[in-house]
Amino acid sequence: MNRYLINGKQRLEGQITTSGSKNASLPLLAATLLGMGESTLKKIPRLSDVEHMVQVLKSLGAKVEDDGETLSIDARVLTGISVSEECMRQMRASNLILGPLLARLGEARIPLPGGCRIGSRPMDQHLKGLAALGVDIQETHGYIEAKVKRMRGADIYFDVPSVGATENLMMAAMGADGTTLLHNAAREPEIIDLQNMLTAMGGKIIGAGTATIRIEGRQPLWGTEYTVIPDRIEAGTHMLAAVMTQGDLEIDNVIPEHMSPIIAKTKQCGAEVTVNNSSIRVKHTGAINPMEIKTLSYPGFPTDMQPQFMALMTLAQGTSVVTETIFENRFQHVDELRRMGAKISVEGRSAIVHGVERLEGAFVEATDLRAGAALFLAALAAEEASVLQNIEYIFRGYEKLEEKYQAVGGKLQRMV
Ligand code: EPZ
Repeated sequence: MNRYLINGKQRLEGQITTSGSKNASLPLLAATLLGMGESTLKKIPRLSDVEHMVQVLKSLGAKVEDDGETLSIDARVLTGISVSEECMRQMRASNLILGPLLARLGEARIPLPGGCRIGSRPMDQHLKGLAALGVDIQETHGYIEAKVKRMRGADIYFDVPSVGATENLMMAAMGADGTTLLHNAAREPEIIDLQNMLTAMGGKIIGAGTATIRIEGRQPLWGTEYTVIPDRIEAGTHMLAAVMTQGDLEIDNVIPEHMSPIIAKTKQCGAEVTVNNSSIRVKHTGAINPMEIKTLSYPGFPTDMQPQFMALMTLAQGTSVVTETIFENRFQHVDELRRMGAKISVEGRSAIVHGVERLEGAFVEATDLRAGAALFLAALAAEEASVLQNIEYIFRGYEKLEEKYQAVGGKLQRMV
């Protein structure tokens, strides 16, 4: 596994441009399976997760071309209905092909996603919704076999506002007779991005961003040209890098209204935050204030920023409480932060963080994408150099990370 050697005590200063959103790109790529024509997607970040989804689309028969700027996908001819065990193990979001394949072919076969480091990651909400549309779901030998002759619209209520289940059902309902209503739907900006692309393809869908989404099925869907939204979690990570390194960063290509809780909490910690139309400037001003963080579904504080904020709180002047309500095991970064001198104790779903004067350089390892991001930030701020292992996790969600950070004064290098 690759690793970074990261010098400590760095002060980052300058401008970083955020890439396109990973968590919007993956459903947009899956949605191209619905179009009877070529779709061209712009600003899609070249991440390992995106490459993985491209391989899944190709395995289903789609033609994919990448000229470095634009990803062109032609899914008019599909030759497969299933995703391999290996694909699913590598990336849970491979399950987003369920909805489109059922809408296109009336059939799909995917492995039951294993758990991952941050939690069990069940799919009961996806399957409950598909069953409501008339899909026959069989779970055999660790696989989900889904079949349906003709889906019919339904009223679907999600027990939890699952992002993936909302996206899968939005796409499945495109192939159902009549109207489908999704209640208690996830409200993330990535859901709105998917609605906008489905609309551009010819779909009739409204309500994304609210708790109720309405889909009129069986509209003819064509290829389209679409540009993905910026990555709010990448941008938030850069904001905290400015504070933790006592620096001053201008983060470009952001949509501030997607980042309200992140902006609010960054201001609350004492940093100077200037919000412009499509950029945010963050300057460290002095002591970091401790605070309470509780992750919630959008528009609450995003779970994908929890590890990064915990890294920030290790340097706060006082005690903070970080409560993770979305995933049951998203504190893998705690042990690694402790190795750097952080004082953290975990009590159930909450971590109590007693701020320390400084973090120490250490050998640490990424256990998942956002834990890796948290350790990356901590290493930039530590007194001495650190080695961060398993950085492949970070490449899943952060495009050109070392180039972006070296350009603002970061002293880090990749080691094999
Ligand atoms: C999406 O995952 C994101 N991934 C995750 O980002 C993000 O953390 C998560 O949403 C929550 O915001 C992508 O968009 C590709 P969920 P998803 O279904 O869709 C429970 C990152 O770091 N649940 O909204 O898999 C589930 O156990 C990644 O970029 C059910 O109970 O998340 C969890 O507790 C990590 N039954 C909660 O809902 C279901 O059928 C939220 O899961 C589905 C989910």
